[in-house]
Amino acid sequence: MTVRIERLVTSGQFTLDGGTWDVDNNVWIVGDEREVIVIDAAHDAKAIADAVDDRRLIAIVCTHAHNDHVNAAPALAELTGATVWLHPDDLPLWRQTHPDRDPDRHLQDGQVIEAAGTDLTVLHTPGHAPGAVCLYDPGLGTVFTGDTLFQGGPGATGRSYSHFPTIIESIRDRLLTLPPETKVLTGHGDATTIGAEAPHLEEWIRRGH
Ligand SMILES: [Fe+2]
Repeated sequence: MTVRIERLVTSGQFTLDGGTWDVDNNVWIVGDEREVIVIDAAHDAKAIADAVDDRRLIAIVCTHAHNDHVNAAPALAELTGATVWLHPDDLPLWRQTHPDRDPDRHLQDGQVIEAAGTDLTVLHTPGHAPGAVCLYDPGLGTVFTGDTLFQGGPGATGRSYSHFPTIIESIRDRLLTLPPETKVLTGHGDATTIGAEAPHLEEWIRRGH
């Protein structure tokens, strides 16, 4: 069985602290011909279910609980029977979007999700959100970073539940220590690599975002 990574882009809105922004999100579908994992069920449960097609959806893994990354998770779970996984430090954020429906499983640092031919290690990387995680698959040479690391720098830390020194520590200690050729697949926008971003850490610290 060949493991593939598929990217689906969905559109919607991000809302926090009374502001609302139009956003495009990357939904990652990882797996083989029989079963898959979805990373971040953003905006459109039907479109994600259509992309999963007749494969079995094992888990809906949330990189963090900003509404744009989790707003379609319960509906996708309903459509497919899959469980929703979130780091418990993001439950306060989750409940702003889904007050009546908690995630099914808790993610924890170091946990390995072995399913659908993948081998995803959970890296707890707080800063953008307290329960933000990245998912690293050494076999695929890929890390899914959600909103923690983008092409060009760290995720935003200007709003509630975010903290710049914490995201810098997460990026420095947990991500930039991965092999430089590791592909970085992000929650929004284009991919990058650890090696392309690592030289810029001091620059990000100096500019403060
Ligand atoms: Fe976010």
